[in-house]
Parts: sequence; structure tokens; C-alpha cells
Amino acid sequence: MMPLVVSEIVRQTPSIVSIRLARPDGDVLPPWEPGAHVDVQLVTRQERQYSLCGDPADTRGYRIAVLDEPLSRGGSHYIHRHLQVGRRVYVRPPRNLFPLGQAPGYLLLAAGIGITPILAMARHLDAVGAPWRMLYLSRRAEDVAFTEELAAFGDRVRVHLSGTEGRVDLREVLGSAASGTDVYACGPQRFADALTGLREALPEGSRLHLERFEPAKREFRPNEAFTVRAARSGREVAVPAEWTMLQALRGAGVEAPGSCLRGVCGSCALPVLDGVPEHRDSLGTEGTSVVYSCVSRSLTPALTLDV
Ligand code: FES
Repeated sequence: MMPLVVSEIVRQTPSIVSIRLARPDGDVLPPWEPGAHVDVQLVTRQERQYSLCGDPADTRGYRIAVLDEPLSRGGSHYIHRHLQVGRRVYVRPPRNLFPLGQAPGYLLLAAGIGITPILAMARHLDAVGAPWRMLYLSRRAEDVAFTEELAAFGDRVRVHLSGTEGRVDLREVLGSAASGTDVYACGPQRFADALTGLREALPEGSRLHLERFEPAKREFRPNEAFTVRAARSGREVAVPAEWTMLQALRGAGVEAPGSCLRGVCGSCALPVLDGVPEHRDSLGTEGTSVVYSCVSRSLTPALTLDV
């Protein structure tokens, strides 16, 4: 992890602050692309994931934004009440699980704090002259963050205030996109679930790319015990029904990465060499050759992993 310092805190709305993080010596930071996030370790040693919402051309600072959530797991409470300019925080280099692909056009959808990766995407698409537009959903005008930056994009950005305008018709929004338009969306669980259920409303040739903060709600079969073969060390690790794969690997002394422990950040990805994983993450890994060990399990009695 990189030791960084808080170089600026800006109140964006009554419940959102943006925070700029820089190296203590002001040197350049590892580069990033729109959609990337960083894992931030707080004093409690808990790690939280925050999308980068600054300008990728700002090579000496990462900007994140944090919502003050009454039901937070502690991260936003600490940041809003105790974090100050000059404080040191530890940050993993950016990783991008929500990258922009090539498309003839882009529809960006943000709800609430989901504006963070979407803002970075808008800035990039605007800089390269790609056709794009954005719909930003918020309940009240005072909850809209980054207002000045968004105003600079003119009528490419539409803000919908559900408190005064009513709930937006997402089916109509998706259906109004030109065919081939790629949709990038980020927001809270209800918004993400609604979009997932509306994929069939997308125009022909369009794809929906979604970033979730919270795990998707799904039902799984009861946990069963299985074995992990750690190919690099040749160790066999038993995963009891009540343990996660990550817990079992770490408990056996196998070094395995992990951060959110909820199947949303992607940091615990391990390549599968043999066996059939039961994917329980919210990252859309069906059919891929990696497994997210913090939540996923095995459909076969054993899984061989490249760890
Ligand atoms: S630790 Fe975040 S997906 Fe597993």
C-alpha cells in the first residue's frame, strides 16, 4: 500500500465530501483510467473502495468522494467526522473493473454517489470528442455533487430530481439510446437492480456496464465443504461449509489478497486451473477463469487455484 496524505477536502453537498490524496513528497502517482477505484485503508485498518472522480491528467493527486451514510460500516463516519488535511492514509494503486470500452456512443447513468466514476468517464469522453450524454439522478437539488464541473458540459448532462420530478422511467431512458450505444451506470442497489432487470429494453447492439457498491441480492444453495489445491505451494486446504475460501486459505498460511470481502471490489481474484467454481460475486464473472475467493465457492469437490 502507498502512504498518501490528504491534501484537500471539499464539501460538495451536505452529505458528500471530495478528498484529494497525494504523495507526501508531491511526486507522481501510478496512472489510472476512468472507472478505476482505489482501496483506502483507514485508521481502523478497514479497507474501503472509492472510485476515482478526478482528472486522470492530474498525475499528482487522486480525488475520491465519500457519502456520509448513516448505516455505513464505519468508513464514511470516520472520513466525515475525523479525517483532516495532512492526515496519512494508505492506498492501494488503482484497479479498473469498470473500464470504458470502444463504442459508437455512450449513455452515462449516475444515481447519487454513483456520480464518482461516471464523472471521470464524462471528462474523458469529452476530452476525446466521443458522443456521450449523461443522466444524473438525485433526490434533491442540494444533493447534487460537482455542480460546477457538470455545468461545464452544458446540455450533455441532465439532472433529474426525483423529489420534485418523480421517479424516472429507466425503461424509457434505455430505450431512447441510439442503437449501439453503450450504457455505463453506477448507483445504489435499487438502481442497479432496476437496470439489471431492464436489459431487454436496451436498443440493438447496446451493452449495459454496471458498477455496484453493494452485493447483488441473490439466493444460493446451502454451503458445502470443499478442498482448494493451492498450485504454487502444492498445499491442500479444506474449506469448511461455514468458512469462506479466503478465510480458509489465509488460515492455512496461504497468502491471498482481499479487501471488501463482499464480492464487489475484485481484489481477491484468483485464477482457476481446475474444477468448477460457484460464482457468488457481483462482478459478473460467469464463464470466466477467475474466482473471487471472499464469497465464491466450488461446484466440484475440489478447486485448483493459481495461488
Ligand atoms: S475481497 Fe472484494 S471481491 Fe473479494
